[in-house]
Amino acid sequence: QRVLQATGRVTLFTVVLSGGLFYYVAHKDRTPGPQLPHDPSKKNLVILGSGWGATSLLNSLEAEDYNVFVISPRNYFLFTPLLPSVATGTLSPRSIIQPTRYVTRHMKRQVTVIEASATDVDPINQTVTFAGKYFQNTSEVQGLVSSTTMKYDYLVYAVGAETQTFNIPGVRENACFMKELDDAEKMQRRFLDCVESAAFPGQSKEEVDRLLHMVVVGGGPTGVELSGELHDFLEDDLRSWYPELADSIKITLVEALPSVLPMFSKQLIDYTESTFKAAKIEIMTKTMVKEIKEKSVVLQMPDRTVAEVPCGMVVWAAGNTLRQVTRDLMAKLPAEQTNRRGISVDESLRMNGAQGVFAIGDCTATSYAPTAQVAAQEGAYLARVFRQLARRDRLAEELDDARRVPDDSAERKAKVEGLERQVAKVEKIRPFKYSHQGSLAYIGSDKAIADLPFFSSGNLATAGVATYLFWRSAYLSKLFSLRNRALVATDWIKVKIFGRDVSRE
Ligand code: FAD
Ligand code: NAI
Repeated sequence: QRVLQATGRVTLFTVVLSGGLFYYVAHKDRTPGPQLPHDPSKKNLVILGSGWGATSLLNSLEAEDYNVFVISPRNYFLFTPLLPSVATGTLSPRSIIQPTRYVTRHMKRQVTVIEASATDVDPINQTVTFAGKYFQNTSEVQGLVSSTTMKYDYLVYAVGAETQTFNIPGVRENACFMKELDDAEKMQRRFLDCVESAAFPGQSKEEVDRLLHMVVVGGGPTGVELSGELHDFLEDDLRSWYPELADSIKITLVEALPSVLPMFSKQLIDYTESTFKAAKIEIMTKTMVKEIKEKSVVLQMPDRTVAEVPCGMVVWAAGNTLRQVTRDLMAKLPAEQTNRRGISVDESLRMNGAQGVFAIGDCTATSYAPTAQVAAQEGAYLARVFRQLARRDRLAEELDDARRVPDDSAERKAKVEGLERQVAKVEKIRPFKYSHQGSLAYIGSDKAIADLPFFSSGNLATAGVATYLFWRSAYLSKLFSLRNRALVATDWIKVKIFGRDVSRE
């Protein structure tokens, strides 16, 4: 009995202590302290974007060295790896976003966050022009100023990429994308529209089959993860609430290349294909989407014949392309910016040909894949670069002052030489080096695949339920805030207990 009592006390103590600690950290997050104001003597650092690259930079940046401005059409960071989970109702949309101000309000000097899209960057005059989000597509008046131009000393260009459509007819009009939060919410609505329409009395068998045929285009990680999540939704929830329809729901993954997930090892590709086969997700490789119509998708089959396949929903996950503002910027530096894949940068991530511009993430053309992992490491690297540049500026100022002193003494000479050496030292910026931490992808049925470069002999390829648990904890740890971790973990527990919500907004 005494052992039981002691265990009870220890448990109670641990729960109260962790609860108190959790409350303390959450409270500290919610109550940022006062900040230094902008200082006209400091340089202007403008950051375009609030995605992986920009947020990682902000998380490590010492803002007191600069007047920092963040310009992005989203006033939040989006944790893209969990976007397919939002599309299928496993996670609530708010759980995977973090307002940018939650980061910037904790920095030592005030950081100005502006919800706007950069429309033009002038690398010669070092200016950026941006327009308020609400002025672009609507006539709604939200304020008096619609567009403005700002001068920068340093610009971090981290606007990411947009979805590649290859100008294939009907993609923009008829398909759902999987890039932004809106896309996931739209897909969820569309999916439930199809299911409810199929449940409407009197639909023909043919129409039910069409409505319940979900086509995912693109066998990259986005398409594969989404197909897996759609399958989970079907098996875990729809089978209970729509028993008469569940067997008619069909998921097809279309990929133009000979296999899905070309960046993973053969073993993991085989594992994914066999998992999908068991889950009755059809994979059509060497098949190219040629057109998307309102109620069908036109495919060019491996034997080059063309087939029109009826479907209720198409999700387009066929990769990235550059944003127009990036193309325009590159066009201004035709001699240096010749890579059609994206912005060319040097080893310190400076945009070739542009003074004071650094470019990171999906908008660049480097030897790295366009992933969150790369963008985040580049952002963290730039925070170190800016620390070094600030130090160099401080030393250069000191050097100027020391040189100006009208004194020929050996002491002064030594001081000047010492400062010159220090300036020369900080002038050298260590090149960016990417450290690959491995690739993970969730493939549905509580399974995930991972390529982990932990062993010198090569990649460790793992798959299965343990990897899936690893996937969950890895993503929980990668979420930037305690708040997001708590929200995502709660959503996962909620879904395990109560299932996904199938009500339509
Ligand atoms: P983004 O994160 O896209 O950020 C770009 C920012 O720029 C956004 O805030 C945007 O609003 C803003 N912006 C856009 N236009 C303008 C403008 N004109 N002016 C100013 N700002 C602008 N990678 C992984 O490593 N692991 C994963 O598991 C993974 N899963 C993914 C799942 C999905 C569904 C998707 C779509 C991608 C996934 N990725 C993953 C890839 C990863 O999200 C990208 O590589 C990463 O977001 C790139 O970071 P970025 O900062 O370059 O761009
Ligand atoms: P992707 O570029 O990796 O894959 C798109 C696929 O669509 C390609 O395989 C392409 O052949 C195919 N495709 C293009 N046009 C087609 C057509 N007309 N018909 C049929 N197939 C067509 O794009 P994805 O998956 O969006 O990934 C983008 C980046 O984000 C990649 O670098 C990826 O590694 C990263 N990412 C990583 C994840 C992870 O590590 N878990 C998850 C999601 C994305």
